[in-house]
Amino acid sequence: MAKTKTLFYCQNCGYQSSKWMGKCPSCENWNTFVEEVIISGSKPISPVLSGFTRSKPKQLNDIETGNEFRINTADHELNRVLGGGLVLGSIVLVGGEPGIGKSTLMLQLALNLRNQRALYVTGEESEQQIKMRSLRLGTENPTCFILTETSLEDIFLQIENIKPDIVIIDSIQTLRTQVIDSSSGSISQIRECANQLQQYAKITNTPVILVGHITKDGNIAGPKILEHMVDTVLYFEGDRNYGYRILRTVKNRFGSTQEIGIYEMCDNGLRQVSNPSELLISQRNENLSGIAIASTVEGLRPMLIEIQALVSTAAYGVPQRATTGFDPRRLNMLLAVLEKRAGFRLANKDVFLNIAGGIKVDDPAIDLAVVCAVLSSNEDIPLNQRACFTAEVGLSGEIRSVNRLDQRINEAAKLGFEKIYIAKGGLKKSDPKLRPEIEIIGLSSIEDLFRELFG
Ligand code: TYD
Ligand code: MG
Repeated sequence: MAKTKTLFYCQNCGYQSSKWMGKCPSCENWNTFVEEVIISGSKPISPVLSGFTRSKPKQLNDIETGNEFRINTADHELNRVLGGGLVLGSIVLVGGEPGIGKSTLMLQLALNLRNQRALYVTGEESEQQIKMRSLRLGTENPTCFILTETSLEDIFLQIENIKPDIVIIDSIQTLRTQVIDSSSGSISQIRECANQLQQYAKITNTPVILVGHITKDGNIAGPKILEHMVDTVLYFEGDRNYGYRILRTVKNRFGSTQEIGIYEMCDNGLRQVSNPSELLISQRNENLSGIAIASTVEGLRPMLIEIQALVSTAAYGVPQRATTGFDPRRLNMLLAVLEKRAGFRLANKDVFLNIAGGIKVDDPAIDLAVVCAVLSSNEDIPLNQRACFTAEVGLSGEIRSVNRLDQRINEAAKLGFEKIYIAKGGLKKSDPKLRPEIEIIGLSSIEDLFRELFG
């Protein structure tokens, strides 16, 4: 007879306790404990996993990798983010807010694979809905199988039949295994299902992609343990009001975590964006004040983005400071620097700052462009449209050099900018003679900047 016991799990971090507690001793969150029933002793072993052969220790030299240990997905952005393709036997977690396009990305991946059998398991949509989506994407693939199922045991049975080369699970929160009696989406279910899928991936050398929901505060729902278990964690993010989506690596055992992939959500699915700068600054208006272009690096990719600022006299006693896509505290700091070090009276002005295209940037190199946009709006003088900026602004008003300067300058030159303003300190590092098409101007302080821009 199977023994039943109940345990309490913190739904935030997965901490386990035999009694209920108000506050989790591990992650210190309140009211996160939920009782879950565990049936032990009757562990049904899935047919795939039962063929498990015990592994013996081997010498590193004896382990062969083979040439074909990555699957080349047809998606260049995804390949790059994964570090050159999907590693065989790896387990990848893709997280993102609802409606951002995770299912679309995954279905597109499955439909575009050639000569590989893909199994797309969904617990969220019906077969008809998937069919409608695939019609919308306009791609067909005879080797792509769709399964609507939430029981892990039944999924393994189907896996046994189909023998897929890649398995996609949409989403891990909808799966259930008989081993555990709690409802799907609970911590112990998620953990056990992920655990079994991980074993399956490692034993059969099949890559498994898990889609995960994220909670209000932006973490993948379920214990952090899920992120520890998998090989790669990707986040799919973007502003739903705009078309751009960014796929970001948070953890990658087989590649860099600096890479990002950029997509645009169109009527017929996600389109890969290979040149983001052109999209982000293409709608520039002639001669408007308050606009400055920054050369930034997201992940490892340089791109140019447009910063828009509006400075106006405050209508109420307390001036407003609002930002989209930029840290408001950083804006306050830059405004304080302008006030204290360069004597601009901004304390009684409303300041609004917006990064065009709905993307979020935390690269300090856009400081200089932010300052320029604010000054341009404050003075109501448009900036030179063929100039862009890349440097950090320090607390004493000094302009500091940033990393990957050459990449930033090259990107600006490639897009036809005639001038780029950088920190004086950076001039030593990059030789202007190498790039005659763009004028590189070094600045050392905010006063320097003001003199350069407004004379
Ligand atoms: P979806 O992949 O269902 O998101 P998730 O799985 O992350 O919840 O994406 C849904 C959104 O994308 C939905 O609002 C509709 C939109 N969409 C398009 O704009 N074009 C398309 O071709 C598709 C398939 C979806
Ligand atoms: Mg979905």
